[in-house]
Amino acid sequence: MSTSELFTFRNRHFSLAVGITAAILIVTAIAGFLVLPFAQPWVQFANVWDAICSAAGVPQRAPKVTVPEQSTRLSEVVLTSSTLARPSQEGIGRGATLAQRCAICHGPTGVSRADSPNLAGQYAAVIYKQLLDFRSGARTNAVMSPFAVNLTDQEIADLSHYYAYLPRLPAYHPTPQLPKPSIVIYGAPMRGIAPCGSCHGSLDNKIGSPWLEGQSEAYMKAQLQAFASGERRNDISQQMRNIARAMTPQEIDQAASYYASQPPDVVKAVD
Ligand code: HEC
Ligand code: HEC
Repeated sequence: MSTSELFTFRNRHFSLAVGITAAILIVTAIAGFLVLPFAQPWVQFANVWDAICSAAGVPQRAPKVTVPEQSTRLSEVVLTSSTLARPSQEGIGRGATLAQRCAICHGPTGVSRADSPNLAGQYAAVIYKQLLDFRSGARTNAVMSPFAVNLTDQEIADLSHYYAYLPRLPAYHPTPQLPKPSIVIYGAPMRGIAPCGSCHGSLDNKIGSPWLEGQSEAYMKAQLQAFASGERRNDISQQMRNIARAMTPQEIDQAASYYASQPPDVVKAVD
């Protein structure tokens, strides 16, 4: 038998070998591109094509959500590293006086007992930006907005310095009772989520990103859901909306409960 006769489909062994190879190829492609992607309970695919793209390593698009029309105001605040850089003692003092009207919800020491956000030790730039956004209507809340609408720029700066000056709750987590959720330490690179701490403080603070440690769990969950639905949209360049939209409900729960956790003695001291 000459070589040219070996590699023809008339040769039974050759056709059998080609057939088996093709079958293996089809079976592994189905397993790799369809069965395995759909077997991951933590990712949802819009359609079969999405699953194939995901298996091939193409970054996944965030699940489609209906974002409300951008007709309402967006944040106009510009933050730079020198925003509120030099607090003065008088400014902090004036802030303390003004803060008396905030204490009923945010706590006399800036630590809330009522699921309002803690403000103690929050970055001054964050308080400043959020108050300006509540005042302009870029961020709205039926309970909070009325307290911001009549503040002057000076009052907002003084309040920001005062709260930033109060001691913040520590970044302490009782491991192993509460292991670090993977979304917090690693983020989710395939979904474009950087580790939370790269903006929020434990690794680095990107200006305007709030200190989250010890923050109320219910509050953080509500904010992440509001970013995901587009109900809150005062984040500059949609940084936080893009992240929250790509998070699963479990990841939102895990991140909120992780950041909210505090050592038992701190919880007692606040009560
Ligand atoms: C009646 C209760 C109440 C009072 C009084 C109040 N706040 Fe608030 N504040 C809230 C609530 C509730 C939120 C969270 C709003 C939301 O869910 O979007 C909030 C949010 C904030 C935030 C945003 C915090 C963050 O981490 O994003 C700042 C800053 C703030 N308040 C400052 C103040 C200041 C300063 C005063 C006093 C001038 C004040 N608040 C008075 C209830 C109150
Ligand atoms: C690219 C930087 C960046 C990353 C990464 C990031 N955030 Fe944010 N986050 C922000 C900024 C900026 C804000 C404030 C938005 C604004 O201006 O109102 C914010 C706001 C928030 C708030 C609202 C806090 C408050 O006091 O109102 C929560 C909760 C939050 N982020 C949770 C997370 C979690 C959980 C992760 C990780 C899965 C994360 N963020 C990752 C930048 C980031």
